[in-house]
Amino acid sequence: MTQIEQRFQPNFLLHGADYNYEQWLDYPDILEEDFRLMREANCNVMSVGIFSWAMLEPAEGQYDFEWLDQLMDTLHENGIQAILATPSGAKPAWMSHAYPEIRRVDAQGRREPHFQRHNHCPTSPVYRQKVRQINTHLAKRYRAHPAVLMWHVSNEYNGGGCHCDLCYAAFRAWLRNRYGTLDALNHAWWTTFWSHRYTDWSQIEPVDGSIQGLMLDWQRFTSDQMLDFFLAEIEPLRAHTPDVPLTTNFMRPDVGLDYWRFAQHIDVVSWDSYPRWHSQPEEWPVAVETAFYHDLHRSYKNQPFLLMESTPSHTNWQGISRPKKPGMHLLSSMQAVAHGADGVQYFQWRQSRGGTEKFHGAVIGHVASRNARVFQDVKSVGAHLAQLSPATSVSQAEVALLYDFQNEWALTLAQLPRNEEKQYQERCIAHYRPFWQMAVPIDLIACSTSNLMPYKLIIAPMLYLLRQDIAARLDTFVRRGGTVVLTYLSGLVDESDLCFIGASPLRPMLGLWVEQTDVLFDHNTQTLELEADNDLGMSGSYPITHFADIVHTDTAIPVARYGHDYYAGQAAVTINRYGAGQCFYVAGRADTRFLHDFYTALSNNLQLARAVSAPLPLGVTAQQRRHGDQTALYLMNFQPSSQTVELDGGIYEDALTGERLRHSVDLEPLGVRIVWQRLQ
Ligand code: GAL
Repeated sequence: MTQIEQRFQPNFLLHGADYNYEQWLDYPDILEEDFRLMREANCNVMSVGIFSWAMLEPAEGQYDFEWLDQLMDTLHENGIQAILATPSGAKPAWMSHAYPEIRRVDAQGRREPHFQRHNHCPTSPVYRQKVRQINTHLAKRYRAHPAVLMWHVSNEYNGGGCHCDLCYAAFRAWLRNRYGTLDALNHAWWTTFWSHRYTDWSQIEPVDGSIQGLMLDWQRFTSDQMLDFFLAEIEPLRAHTPDVPLTTNFMRPDVGLDYWRFAQHIDVVSWDSYPRWHSQPEEWPVAVETAFYHDLHRSYKNQPFLLMESTPSHTNWQGISRPKKPGMHLLSSMQAVAHGADGVQYFQWRQSRGGTEKFHGAVIGHVASRNARVFQDVKSVGAHLAQLSPATSVSQAEVALLYDFQNEWALTLAQLPRNEEKQYQERCIAHYRPFWQMAVPIDLIACSTSNLMPYKLIIAPMLYLLRQDIAARLDTFVRRGGTVVLTYLSGLVDESDLCFIGASPLRPMLGLWVEQTDVLFDHNTQTLELEADNDLGMSGSYPITHFADIVHTDTAIPVARYGHDYYAGQAAVTINRYGAGQCFYVAGRADTRFLHDFYTALSNNLQLARAVSAPLPLGVTAQQRRHGDQTALYLMNFQPSSQTVELDGGIYEDALTGERLRHSVDLEPLGVRIVWQRLQ
């Protein structure tokens, strides 16, 4: 941990919201009421100034910080800290018109009008200069303000890409740096195919999906370029406020940015989580997905993160978004904390009066009533968070799941025999789900930068693109005694998206090679049939869908064989003992029942620690977290009915009520209980 990362150790959990004070300057009564209600809801932090550039700099070079001074002072007077934003997420209209180059250009070469937000060109020197100026003013003005807790840099950067001349020039420079010569580039992109060879750098335009190396590099570049913009954006903040930690709010991992790389340059990871609660007949699959994303954000730096945005009720940008049912707000907020969040914040404190988000949920609605259920729910979260201070580190998991953005991009670009439902992210979540159900803690890893040694088990679903360093590190991990699980569609291409010739680098570790991948239509039948007396003690038959690798074993031993078609009897799941460890290969897409049974057997074999030893009811999970010198057990019920959890031996105490508990805990429908584990 760097010094500044260490410095962010608030001795309380954060509770707050995006606060758009600047929208209400003409409504002093409302502003007054806001602070009263913030105190009542136990809020101790507000994210401010996020979309306020037009208010801060109404005309070029004319600044107005008075309203922000007033806001910062009032926050401080009310004992509330500020996560102070830089405003680059939305540019003022005067700027877009004076400097059209700051507006993004689409793949057809059309420059966007001034509209929406999060759509600036990341290369434009003019925009960078404008951002530098406003950020310098903010940093100098508020560096000593007692309300400042942290910087909220911009808002939800994305890797959408800009196709302007400036970006193309930067892309070509990036390519020169990566490949050195056009010959090397032509080889890496295999451009002799369809006569695509480039003879001059200026011919390269990232608009051709048939050259997948090109499009993969374009995605890498757009991610790197936004990171470069971010680094330029934070220069004045680092220069004038070296002691103020900074964050930028991430999103789910499908916005074209390699967050593993971003995370190395920020002090605190934060993210905006908008699960679609109540969108499915059962709640808990949404909970699994949400837990996965929380764990991912904790894992980016292997540190506590912040839930920067969540809705206290509903959104207004999803197809259908139901208000949270009673219990759900507390449950979903505590879920974030259970997985490593040191704070829960909302979008938004007060519902806008106009504009596209006026019907988005908020702590305070248009009919501002402290008696509204939403406000009471928020208060309840505040009360829980207050009980849990101080929070500290997160527990060390024994299982890790490799989540690789570049692999996801390459897999998405690849034209395979089956292009429907490749679903990298969904499959990662499917492999994660059994651990959630067993209450076995799990980290997400980048592999090339993570320390693999603490883990007993590493899972890498659909590792299509295999970088040399990842292959080598997994190999060493297994040789030294670790267990790895790999699946179909793995180790097919190198970093440049070039197919491996002959054997994949995974062959020694897997003890097999893949001859072909069968792909299945919905009406096709395939199964995996467990071998008698296999190592995992499993039996029976499970369906295989979508993809089925047809493999030849070298040293691997079949654990299961295919049950149908011309490759019936060939290995479908294998184990290869390799060095001091073992590597499993799940050659076909197996269903959730198989994954559950497989990982349960493996967890038992590897004696993986669980937060609760007794089997949990379906839809119920548990997480452990250290708070100071105490261990808290978070018991969460995502079922609409009451459930009971059998506790391990020992004494437990309800964190909120102090009630002593032994043997078991009852959970209400959509209920959560946090209990301190006391030594006997
Ligand atoms: C986020 C964004 C917020 C707000 C919110 C609505 O993505 O950062 O400004 O728009 O969505 O859910």
